[in-house]
Amino acid sequence: MESPRKFIVGGNWKCNGTVASVSKLVDELNAAVEANPEDFKSVQAIVAPSFVHIPIVMQRINPLIKVAAQDLHFGHCGAYTGEVSADQLKDLGVEWVIIGHSERRAGTASNYGVMAFESPERVQWKVSYALSRGMKVIICCGETLHERKAEVSIDICKTQLWPVVRAIHSAEEWKRIVIAYEPVWAIGTGVSASKADAEVVHAGIRSWLAKEVSKEVASNVRIQYGGSVSPKNCMDLAQATDIDGFLVGGASLFAESFASIISAGAKFGRNES
Ligand code: 13P
Repeated sequence: MESPRKFIVGGNWKCNGTVASVSKLVDELNAAVEANPEDFKSVQAIVAPSFVHIPIVMQRINPLIKVAAQDLHFGHCGAYTGEVSADQLKDLGVEWVIIGHSERRAGTASNYGVMAFESPERVQWKVSYALSRGMKVIICCGETLHERKAEVSIDICKTQLWPVVRAIHSAEEWKRIVIAYEPVWAIGTGVSASKADAEVVHAGIRSWLAKEVSKEVASNVRIQYGGSVSPKNCMDLAQATDIDGFLVGGASLFAESFASIISAGAKFGRNES
């Protein structure tokens, strides 16, 4: 039986790429899978291209690498200009979605500035609808630098996760949830959280889940770390007891870096059975 906490590494490609560059990246990733199939079998690999590139990636990528959307609409199809529904993603064969990334959330120092719009309620609706359509969800949380300095990192994560926890109604749905702890100050800065600092937050989230949901959910749910993960720092981070994978931004745009992070997960990750 597959471990409930199989190491899981996602590549969030954000708003990057062209048809040519994405096709090349996928071909290089496929070559990496062929070179090291065992690593890609022991670690769950996922890539999240822009919506426009999802069909190209779906057609081309080795099936050992799953595809995620970076966001989705909070409900069904209809008169919602510019939105993409879970129903349309499912129709394309997309199983995974990232929800609540800090670059989309209101109130974080996001690239959208004052236009940031992802409220906790919207995040909750999105998780609810995605789960109702059978999708697997990577739900992001994480504190800003200001909040880290105020030593409220775990409280911020709990506040961000609480509406989501209320949207998950069964043990089966929990199996389709992955939490990504992504401290905002570590994203795209080249400054990753240390293994010890990340572990404190991961363990804090887990013990909070044990109290608020159940011990079983807390011990089975996977918690990824994201924020300047690189081939250099991933070996150390992967060894932390409560780090079950990574959500990688910049380094995932290079097949060689992404593949070496997968291999580090295969070698050093806690892949309990
Ligand atoms: P970086 O790895 O570029 O810091 O981005 C992390 C991230 O935001 C993944 O979702």
